[in-house]
Formats: sequence, C-alpha cells, structure tokens
Amino acid sequence: MQHRILNYLIAAVFVALIFLTIIFVTAILPATTFQPEATRQGAYKYTASEWRGREVYKREGCVYCHTQFVRYQDREMGEMVLAGDYVNQTPHLLGTERTGPDLSNIGGKYPDAWHWAHHMQPRAVKPGSLMPSFSYLKDDEMRDLIAYLQTLGRERELEARQRGMVPQQQTSSTKGKFKQTPQHTGTEEGAGKQTPITWLEAPQELRDEWKRISKNVDTNNSAIANSGRGIYMQNCAVCHGVTGRGNGPISSSMIKKPANLTRPFYQAYTDALFYWRVKEGVAGTRMPRWGRSLSEQQMAYLVAFIKTLPVDPSTPSGDVEVTKFSQLDQPTLMDGNYNEIERLSELHSASPYNPGGGRH
Ligand code: HEC
Ligand code: HEC
Repeated sequence: MQHRILNYLIAAVFVALIFLTIIFVTAILPATTFQPEATRQGAYKYTASEWRGREVYKREGCVYCHTQFVRYQDREMGEMVLAGDYVNQTPHLLGTERTGPDLSNIGGKYPDAWHWAHHMQPRAVKPGSLMPSFSYLKDDEMRDLIAYLQTLGRERELEARQRGMVPQQQTSSTKGKFKQTPQHTGTEEGAGKQTPITWLEAPQELRDEWKRISKNVDTNNSAIANSGRGIYMQNCAVCHGVTGRGNGPISSSMIKKPANLTRPFYQAYTDALFYWRVKEGVAGTRMPRWGRSLSEQQMAYLVAFIKTLPVDPSTPSGDVEVTKFSQLDQPTLMDGNYNEIERLSELHSASPYNPGGGRH
C-alpha cells in the first residue's frame, strides 16, 4: 500500500517536472533572454482616407484570408516586418490564415487600377482566384481601401532601397539622366510617331541583373521556352491571348489593351528589355509587376517563350505606341498613363506610383 502511494508520488513529481521544464523553455527563457533591439517607431501616420480604408479592410473581413506579417521563414514574401511597423495600428490586422497571400508588402506591387479591377472581379485579373468580389463597395470605400493597400510595406521598401537592397528605381533625382538617354527617342514626347526606334534598352541595373540570370538560362533553348509556355498560359494568356496577340478574354474590357507581342516591332527587343518589362510591369496599365510574384527563373523562361511567338506580318510593322517607359516615382513622366487610371477610377491616392499625389 505504502509502495503504491510512493509510486504515484514519483510519477506526479515527474509529470510536474516535465510540465515546468516545458514552461521554462517555451515561456520563461524566451521572455528573459529575447531582447530584440527597438525598431523604427511610429513610422507611419495614416491619412484620413487610408485610415478609412483600413476600417473597410477590417469590416470586410480581409483579415480572415490575408495575413500581414512576414517572418524570417517567409523570406520569399519580401522584406521582413519589424515590431515598429505595427505602431499606430490598433487593433492590429495580423491575421492567422493565408487563404490568400500575405499583404505586408502589397503596396506598389500593382497600380491602383489593378486593385480596382481585382476587387470588382478577382477572376478578371487572376483566373481561378477564389477571392470573393467586393463590387458592392461604394466608390469612396474602394478608393480608401486601395489607398490603404498601397501603404502596406511602403516605408519598408523605401528604407530597403536606401540600404541598397532593392534595385533603385528611377527617381526624380535621376530624372534628368532618364530623359536624356537615347533609348527613348521613339517614345518620349516630342518624338513623332514616324520616328524609327533605332534601339531600345533596359536600364543599366536591369541589364546587369539579366546578365547574371541569363548565365544559367539559355533563352534560345526550346525546352526552356516550353516551360515558359506553361507559365505564360497560366498568368499572361488571359490578357495577351494564347497566341500573344493581345486579345485575351479580358482584353475587351480594358482601355489600354495588352501588348500584341507578335508585332514585328518586338523583334527589336533584347532579352533584357523583355525581362525588364515583365519584371517591372507597365505602370499606369494593368500589366502587373511580375517581379513581385514570379521568380527570376520563371521570368527568364517567359522571355524564352515570348521570343518563340511567331511574327505576324499582317500587323503594322512600324513603331508600336509603347506605353512610355514609365517608372515608379515619376508621376510627371507617366501623366499619359495616369489619365487613364483617373478615367477608370478617379483615384488620387498617394501611392508609390503617385507619391504625395493625394488630394487628402
Ligand atoms: C475568402 C478569402 C479571401 C478574402 C475574404 C479576401 N481575399 Fe484577397 N485573395 C484571396 C486569394 C485566394 C487571393 C489569391 C488569388 C488572387 O490574387 O485573386 C487573394 C489575393 C489578393 C490580393 C493580391 C495579392 C497578390 O500578391 O497578388 C489582394 C491585394 C487582396 N487579395 C486583397 C484583399 C482585400 C483588400 C480583401 C478584403 C476586402 C480581400 N482580399 C479578401 C482570398 C481572399
Ligand atoms: C491584366 C492583364 C495583363 C496580364 C495578366 C499580363 N499583361 Fe503584359 N501587358 C498588359 C498591358 C495592358 C500592357 C501594356 C501595353 C502597352 O504598354 O501599351 C502589357 C505589356 C507587356 C509587355 C511590354 C510590351 C512593351 O511594349 O514593352 C510585355 C513584354 C508583357 N506585357 C508580357 C507579359 C507577360 C510575360 C505576362 C505574364 C507573366 C503578362 N504580360 C501578363 C496586360 C497584361
């Protein structure tokens, strides 16, 4: 009898020890030893519109499907978040489940008009998406919501650019240089439409990047082009069409039509130029910045595939009215494109595409 009680006692002590050890290791130890440095504080103050947009985000339950945290182990989702990013955010909208992608770095990924279209009908820009349509939102609410989305990750990206971790976009300080480079002769204002384009080239940093990537990918290899075909059908055909003529199923509802990639004009494009256009998108149109969702390798495969599209001699052979080589942070250079966005949605929210360009 005595023995049995002793046995129970020993077992109880063991269980208690295990329990306390777990608490010590998972709770007490981290609380006392994990002392991260304080990060940037109160970094971002929302404008009234952005804050209202945040309320819409909360009310519509976006948080059930989208998270707003990028941890160390999520590095493919972009810049990691820091504690300071959440200052001013009450209640926080971290979310728990990723039915849709994390939105911490969504700001600047797409033009405002893309978001507008995506919220009206997600399947129009992302075939197969299971995100519900939010077409019942009032125009004001939609505008606010998009203004809010465009803030997500903006501070972080700007900071990363300063640290040199994200390739520097053409900014207003490099504008002079941008205007003078000969590659834009055919497309800049002032150049008549008849002026032949002597040559076109991507910015230097993109050419360097392409040089590095193309070492491992032979864009003239038909197997590689065939892999690119799959990626194209999945992501691009809906706009550019299965044959690349810019007549995909949703192109009919677009004001700025997708490029017809079979025009003889595109023979003049170098691989690096295609890569740049695919990676950075065409701001002010619905051509997304694929660099945010496809890998370098996937984009290289796409370049290989685009080059295999047959040239269609029945299409006009002259200069394509290429949307200007618009760049982030260059609202003046992209005025032409912006008129279109404004026509679509009258958006004036400040975003990386239109910094400080808000009415609010
Ligand atoms: C039922 C789940 C669900 C809800 C609710 C939802 N989404 Fe989504 N969302 C998704 C899925 C799935 C995707 C990925 C496919 C796509 O892009 O449409 C997505 C994609 C997105 C994207 C594009 C992300 C990227 O990196 O391409 C944005 C922006 C977005 N959602 C915003 C919102 C906002 C804002 C709300 C609330 C108004 C919302 N979503 C509500 C499921 C959801
Ligand atoms: C939502 C529609 C849409 C999708 C999806 C899309 N594009 Fe585009 N694309 C456009 C529009 C619009 C333009 C701009 C045409 C212009 O500038 O006149 C464009 C332009 C381009 C250009 C630049 C052409 C030029 O004149 O410089 C290339 C290259 C391109 N797209 C390739 C792709 C590839 C590759 C994909 C898939 C990964 C893709 N696009 C997906 C709409 C789309």
